[in-house]
Amino acid sequence: MKLKIALLPGDGIGPEVLSQAVKCLEAVEESFNHQFAFKEAPVGAVAIDVTGDPLPEQTLELCHEADAVLFGAIGDPKYDNDPKAKVRPEQGLLKLRKELGLYTNIRPVKVFPTLMDQSPLKKEIISGTDFTIYRELTGGIYFGEKRISDDGTVASDLCEYSEKEISRIAHLAFKAAKNRNQKLTLVDKANVLESSRLWRKVVAKIGESYPEVALDFLFVDNAAMQIILNPSQFDVILTENMFGDILSDEASVIGGSIGLLASASVGDAAALFEPIHGSFPQAKGKNIANPVASILSAAMLLEHFQLFEEAMAVREAVSKALEKGVVTPDLNPNTKYGTSHVGGFIADNVVDSHDDLNMNDENIGLGKSTII
Ligand code: IPM
Ligand code: MG
Repeated sequence: MKLKIALLPGDGIGPEVLSQAVKCLEAVEESFNHQFAFKEAPVGAVAIDVTGDPLPEQTLELCHEADAVLFGAIGDPKYDNDPKAKVRPEQGLLKLRKELGLYTNIRPVKVFPTLMDQSPLKKEIISGTDFTIYRELTGGIYFGEKRISDDGTVASDLCEYSEKEISRIAHLAFKAAKNRNQKLTLVDKANVLESSRLWRKVVAKIGESYPEVALDFLFVDNAAMQIILNPSQFDVILTENMFGDILSDEASVIGGSIGLLASASVGDAAALFEPIHGSFPQAKGKNIANPVASILSAAMLLEHFQLFEEAMAVREAVSKALEKGVVTPDLNPNTKYGTSHVGGFIADNVVDSHDDLNMNDENIGLGKSTII
C-alpha cells in the first residue's frame, strides 16, 4: 500500500518519540512491502518561534494532502505561565482538529499483563481493564464562544453541542461497542447541564438502532470514581470533549504510565494519530521519554488502513520490549535504556516478526541484533 504520512513532531519530547514511531513504520514498510512517503512540518511552539503561527498554512496544507497525520506533542511552559499570551501552541492542534474535521478521538485503555505491578492501583482492581474512550473532539467548551469582560475580571467559555455533532460520534461509538463487548456508557452531567441532556436524548434514540449494545449513563463525577474503583466494568465510554480529556488522563494511571496510551482522531475525510501524553518539557532531549504511546499510535494508523497484520507485528514487538524489560525510566527507574534504544528494539522486532526466531537476551542493550 502507498500512503502519504504527514509528520508533525511539535514540541518537547514530540520529535524524539515520533522518530521512534517512524522507525517502526519504516520497519513495516520493509517487512510487508509497503511504500510510506513521510513529509515533516512544524506545529506548536516551534512553529510560533519561526512563523508566529502555531499552525502555519503550509503545515495545514500538507495535512490536507496526506492520507494520515502522525503527531508528536504540543505545548511549552513559556506559554503555560503567561496568561496574557495572544498565541498559544495548543491553538495549533485545536485548529488542526477542527480544519481536518477530526470529530472523534479514540483512546484505548488496556493493562499490559507484564506491567501490572507498575500501576499505583491494586492488581485485583486493574486486571481485565480493556475499554476505549470515544471523546468528541471538535465541539463543546473547547470551541464555544470565549469572552472576557473589558476590565478583565469576568470570563466565560460556552459549551454548545448540536444534535448532528452528537449523533456522528455516537454512531461510531455504537459500532465500536457492537464489535467489542456490546456495552456503551455515555458519560455526562445531565443532572446539571442542558448540553448533557441533549447528549442523553440523542444517544438514547440512536441506541434503539443498536439493540445488541447495552447502553447506560453515568454522571461524570461518578465516572471519574468508577474508572479507578472498577475499570473492568467499562467497554466503550462515549463522552464530550472536556470530560473525555480529563477522564483519559485519569484512565492512563491504570496502566502505570501515560507514556503507553495512544490515540486516533478521525473524521469523515482525515485521520490523525498521536500519543495522549503532552510535550513533557522536563524530559526534552534527554532520551528518557517513553516512545511506546507514539509507536502504538502508529499501530492505530496501520489499523485505520486495514493493515491488521502489520499493526499486530508492531503491537507484538511492543509487548516483547515490555516483557524483556527494554523500557524507559517511567517504567523502570533503574533501566539502562533510553527512548531511541527502546524504539530501535521495537522496530528491529517488527522486521523480524515474520520469523519465529528466538531472542538472544544477552544482546539486548548492546546495540546488536537480538535475534538468533
Ligand atoms: C489532549 C491534550 C489537548 C487537549 C491539549 C494539548 C490542547 O490535552 O489531546 O488530550 O486538551 O485536547
Ligand atoms: Mg489531554
